[in-house]
This record gives sequence, C-alpha cells and structure tokens, in this order.
Amino acid sequence: MSRKILEVTGLNKHFGGLHAVKDFNLELFEGDSLAIIGPNGAGKTTLFNLLTGYHKVDSGSILFGGMDITNRPSHEIARAGISRAFQITNIFPKLTVFENVRSAVQTQMGKAFDVFGRADKIGTEETENIVDLCGLDKRIRIVAGELSQGDKKKLELALALAGKPKLLLLDEPTAGMSLEETRETMILVDRLNEEFNLTVLFTEHDMAVVFNHAHRVALLHNGEIIVVGTPEQVRMNETVQRIYLGEDA
Ligand SMILES: Nc1ncnc2c1ncn2[C@@H]1O[C@H](COP(=O)(O)OP(=O)(O)OP(=O)(O)O)[C@@H](O)[C@H]1O
Ligand SMILES: [Mg+2]
Repeated sequence: MSRKILEVTGLNKHFGGLHAVKDFNLELFEGDSLAIIGPNGAGKTTLFNLLTGYHKVDSGSILFGGMDITNRPSHEIARAGISRAFQITNIFPKLTVFENVRSAVQTQMGKAFDVFGRADKIGTEETENIVDLCGLDKRIRIVAGELSQGDKKKLELALALAGKPKLLLLDEPTAGMSLEETRETMILVDRLNEEFNLTVLFTEHDMAVVFNHAHRVALLHNGEIIVVGTPEQVRMNETVQRIYLGEDA
C-alpha cells in the first residue's frame, strides 16, 4: 500500500454568494494519477488555487505528506513539494531554454549556489537532465520566446520539475494543443508518474486524455465530488453520463 500524500477534508470556498467548492474531500496516494473532470465552472481551478495557497480556504484542511498546509503562503507550499505547471508567467522569454531551467534549478538549490558563487556551473548537469527528460534537448540554446506552443508547454513542465515536486498539479495540460502535442505531453506526464513515481492531479476537458491517462477519475459538479473511481467506473456511471458525458459518451 503506498503512502498517503494528500488528504483534503471538508474544504469549502465561497466567492460572495457563490459556493464554489463544497465540503470537498480527497485522498491521494504516492504515484497516483487522478483526473478531475467537470463542466465549466465546476470548481476545478478554484480547487487548485486552494491547494497551492493562491486562494484562502473558508473552512476545511489540507494535509500534504502529513503536514498541515491549509492557508499557508504559496511559496511554502511549493517548497513542501506541490508544483503547478503551465503558468506561462514562469518563463523568461528572452532567456534560452537552458537558462530558464537552470535558473529554476538554482532557485530550488537555494543557498548552495550563493556559497560557491559559481552561478555559471552550478546546476548544469541537473538542468541538462531535466531538459532531456522533457524532450527539449534540441531546443536547449533557443530563446524561450521563439519556441512553438508545444515546446513552451514542455518548458513549463521542465520549470515545474526543477522545483523537485512530489505532487504535480496540471490544470488542463493539453488545452490549445494539437493532437501530436497532446500525445507527447501526456506521454511525458505518464513517464513522470510511472518512472519517477510523481503523483499527478490534473483537470482536463478532453475525455480521451482523461480515460487513457488517469488511474482514477473524479467528477466535480457545482463544487462537489459526485463520483470517484477507475476510468471505467466513472465512464459507466449514470450520473456522470447525465451531467457531463452526454447520451452517446
Ligand atoms: N476569483 C474569483 N472570484 C469570483 N468568482 C470566482 C473566482 N474564481 C472562480 N470563480 C467562480 O467560481 C466558480 C468555479 O470556477 P472555476 O474556475 O474553479 O471552474 P472550473 O471548473 O475550473 O471551470 P473551467 O472548466 O471553465 O476551467 C465559477 O462560477 C467561477 O465564476
Ligand atoms: Mg478551470
């Protein structure tokens, strides 16, 4: 039995009169890959904002690796090991792929590189490993601003990995991608999950991606979890079909 990594209990979030997340409970185990699906406005992104400390919770608790991270500042939560990829603002468009990733690697290393003061060498090997892993080795000297959309997504994933996360949150990882980019991105996500035992929590509107890549699927509707189960259980669930998948899904 793998270790429990995340335990969310009784989470609530209101925006004025809107109850965006309602009595939300979730357990994630190390190596899990859980997709949260649900219609627009279901509360998926809000949930991610609560988990990453971007929004304050109204009530409830979030334990990560046994540590209470409820309403902790975002940087503390990131340091604890929750990383959210695909926040385009992390990329420095005028720096190369290598420089972008190395800067994230060095940030993670913190003091180590201040002490030695050789910023040009420190973190190089790790940077190259991450760049390779994300399939950007041929782009390593390219300025980030000139990358294709698909390669920018890979770079964002690389930046998230530089933070050495234990839990990776992906909010619609394949949104706006071509079929080929979607395929490549999800192969990479699967690799991170399977080879590196990285726990993945993602939201996604593309049901082919959800059912092919998640170990478990949860349906969120009006801020509440309606069903959690294997992809097959969720696909066959009548409530899911009615709320979300439509008659012919
Ligand atoms: N900062 C905010 N202030 C006020 N209302 C908000 C805020 N963020 C989200 N909401 C509202 O909370 C509800 C849940 O929104 P959320 O973005 O979490 O949905 P979602 O499931 O991510 O939808 P989508 O699939 O479209 O991304 C929506 O009604 C949204 O308008
Ligand atoms: Mg959203």
